[in-house]
Amino acid sequence: MNLIFLGPPGAGKGTQAKRLEDARGLVQLSTGDMLRAAAAAGSPVGLLAKQSMDRGELVDDEIVVSIIGERIDNADCQGGFILDGFPRTLAQAKELDALLDRKSLKLNRVIEIRMNDGVLTERIIGRFACANCREGYHDKYRRPKVEGVCDACGGTEFSRRDDDKEETVTARLGAYHAQTAPLLPYYRERGVLSEVDGMAKVDAVTRQINKIIDAA
Ligand code: AP5
Repeated sequence: MNLIFLGPPGAGKGTQAKRLEDARGLVQLSTGDMLRAAAAAGSPVGLLAKQSMDRGELVDDEIVVSIIGERIDNADCQGGFILDGFPRTLAQAKELDALLDRKSLKLNRVIEIRMNDGVLTERIIGRFACANCREGYHDKYRRPKVEGVCDACGGTEFSRRDDDKEETVTARLGAYHAQTAPLLPYYRERGVLSEVDGMAKVDAVTRQINKIIDAA
């Protein structure tokens, strides 16, 4: 089962992809995580990508397509994957079609996580994660059970993403509407698009997604 999660920043793509990975053994392929790892490693491509990410702009199609192309080749993707944050432009969607064709892989479903823009900024700027195991928290919606201690691993260091600032989130939302939203009609015409209500609680969104996958 190969899936795409489409949706604006903060819609819950990462949260839901992680849940599916744990529950169904599908591999989460987050281009955002891959680009942040490349930037943290200080590679030339990573540092170039970081400049765009810090401005809330999309990274060059060529860079992203090459990163994802290499990753899909890994053996762990054979059992199925969830593309989280890719494709984000029509050019990337066309490159993905070609890539899947070459590998004789099928795209089973594209799941749009729909959201109102107003809620997204609050979700994103309140988000933080354990620096050790990356367990996610939120200032308002999910604090650690013991203040300052990660529920999952007991770590005491936490971090926030460089691009989770209010002004950057506005730019990221602009990029979503201008460059990524046109993918919705692209996939609708191919008959592979389904929608879920991302405003619902996390468990309710998971249930909607599972229903779509079970029917696919
Ligand atoms: P990326 O890392 O992909 O970020 P994004 O798309 O902006 O999405 P986020 O990770 O911010 O949000 P999400 O939808 O995963 O939500 P989450 O589950 O965390 O991309 C970052 C940057 O990298 C881009 O701006 C771009 O520069 C570059 N990039 C990446 N891919 C690219 C590509 N293909 N092409 C070009 N450039 C690319 O949830 C958010 C918060 O809400 C969390 O705190 C969570 O706990 C909470 N939450 C989730 N669901 C719910 C719910 N139902 N109710 C209440 N709270 C919830």
